[in-house]
Amino acid sequence: MTKGIILAGGLGSRLYPITWAVSKQLLPVFDKPLIYYPLTTLMLAGVREILIISTPLHLPLYRHLLGDGRRWGLSLHYAEQAEPKGLAQAFVIGESFVAGEPCALALGDNVFYGAGLTAQLERAASVRDGAVIFAYPVADARAFGVVEVDRTGRALSIEEKPAAPKSDLAVTGLYFYDRDVVEIAKAVEPSPRGEVEITSVNAHYLERGKLQVEVLPRGTAWLDTGTVEAMHEASAFVRAIEHRQGLKIACPEEVAWRRGYISTDELLAIAGGLKNEYGDYLRRLTTAIGH
Ligand code: G1P
Repeated sequence: MTKGIILAGGLGSRLYPITWAVSKQLLPVFDKPLIYYPLTTLMLAGVREILIISTPLHLPLYRHLLGDGRRWGLSLHYAEQAEPKGLAQAFVIGESFVAGEPCALALGDNVFYGAGLTAQLERAASVRDGAVIFAYPVADARAFGVVEVDRTGRALSIEEKPAAPKSDLAVTGLYFYDRDVVEIAKAVEPSPRGEVEITSVNAHYLERGKLQVEVLPRGTAWLDTGTVEAMHEASAFVRAIEHRQGLKIACPEEVAWRRGYISTDELLAIAGGLKNEYGDYLRRLTTAIGH
């Protein structure tokens, strides 16, 4: 079974002063903490055993928020990243958790939404040889990892924040790897900015002809939460969809219940502790028609 890591470390310095005292991935995106979004993305991929990595200061808050995951039919684990030394470090920190299994990495601040996403996620999670990354067309790719792809979805080149991007496909913060990932991550040399880059891990798979790219279609949203403006826009997006449809995006209780990880009684028990709109929503799910 593919495991998952959510990386919720970093200083969040682009959001100062908001993130002086609060971890970025605990901030709200409309009606939920930001980390609920990557968490439910992994749940939709069928991943149920997840390691949360954060700073020594913030890790206790994630434990407080998410617990052992049992109430959502998950098994959640925690590990500290003492200093932000790069995304690929997640696999070095998580070595004993990964324990030689295939493993996904989701960045704690990436929001995905859209029809067809679950099928793409499940496909990626079923890969046992090689890596699958998700790419998204953006207006300006220079701020991201950038991947060039052939007709079959195989990666041709990958570069971290290139000055002259070879394509408009940004590499999103969601990666699925086979069981070799820990050894590959351990061998990565730090980049000029002193970080062990996830792009270097991906480049390793590419050299072996084993880097597949799932391009997210234009009907999908990949939202950035890197700046105050982007956070606000992500909240506005989620609010608009939720108000229109009456359905929540990234509600872990709902995903757990729809996937059969928790029973209706368990869902209602959680709802009972929430005397607000969120609790009303969970209660309504059990009586709603369809969807
Ligand atoms: C990281 C990755 C980059 C990727 C981005 C997606 O960049 O290094 O390849 O495109 O996440 O969110 P960062 O935002 O950490 O600079």
